[in-house]
Amino acid sequence: MRHFITVNQLSAEEIFLLIKTAESYQETNFQINQQLFAANLFFEPSTRTKSSFVVAEKKLGLEVLDFHAETSSTEKGESLYDTAKTFESIGADMLVVRHQSDTWMDELDSNIKIPIINAGAGKEEHPTQCLLDLLTIYQEYGRFDGLNVLISGDIKHSRVAHSNAFALKKLGAKVFISAAPGFEDNTLGFPHISMDDAIKFCDVVMLLRVQHERHKHTLETMEYLENYGLTKEREKQMKKHAIILHPAPVNRGVEIDSDLVECDRSRIFKQMSNGVFIRMAIITKILTEWGILNENSIEKCQ
Ligand code: CP
Repeated sequence: MRHFITVNQLSAEEIFLLIKTAESYQETNFQINQQLFAANLFFEPSTRTKSSFVVAEKKLGLEVLDFHAETSSTEKGESLYDTAKTFESIGADMLVVRHQSDTWMDELDSNIKIPIINAGAGKEEHPTQCLLDLLTIYQEYGRFDGLNVLISGDIKHSRVAHSNAFALKKLGAKVFISAAPGFEDNTLGFPHISMDDAIKFCDVVMLLRVQHERHKHTLETMEYLENYGLTKEREKQMKKHAIILHPAPVNRGVEIDSDLVECDRSRIFKQMSNGVFIRMAIITKILTEWGILNENSIEKCQ
């Protein structure tokens, strides 16, 4: 792997290996036995992804360089490329980047000589969110093959939908899409279905946030929930063991009834917890593939 930009780069075998690595990090503490620096360059707001990268990096023993876009020289007009090149020059060993552009990686790809992990690219890709979703589904069912997965919400503007739909298909799951008018994405090529029909047979109901920051659609909250969201009435019709996922942040009372966010079948906070370990797995994979780590670099610790 050069930079980790899209989950499509990974074979099914690599995804399973990342899941197994993440589970081993969940069970046992491992640390890298050399000094390495990570810089997390977030140009869009984030609570979960940024913080869980920091925790993943610190658990592995990396030094985390401080960067806040709003107090950085990007405010003086410095480009993403020059910012990344600066961190490379001062000794960062890897970068984690989130940016509102769908194609920010094109600016960095060939000229940045340290590994880059995509922590969110505009509306297009969120590969580490996808991997933590896959880990959560795998821990529930022990497989993907034959599972029915509904992805529901603002599909058109969601990088999570794009990353997940194709990865789940690659792993053998059947993916269905449900979206309000204006939020569909017919380019994905997955069947569209109503929430009312899908919840009766889907094993996983993945809800997505209405991405208010990416469009000007206005909506009536209650009307959206009743017509397109997961209400308490719909939740009662879900299969006995079906689970609810949501990448969060959640618009409580819009795509999901607030009372369901922490209900028994919700794995929303489990997803967040899993995010730390899957990010540890991605970090060690990419650093190993770049030759920065070798088989002796990662040690079990007490
Ligand atoms: N799920 C997710 O990407 O959350 P943040 O925007 O808070 O990082």
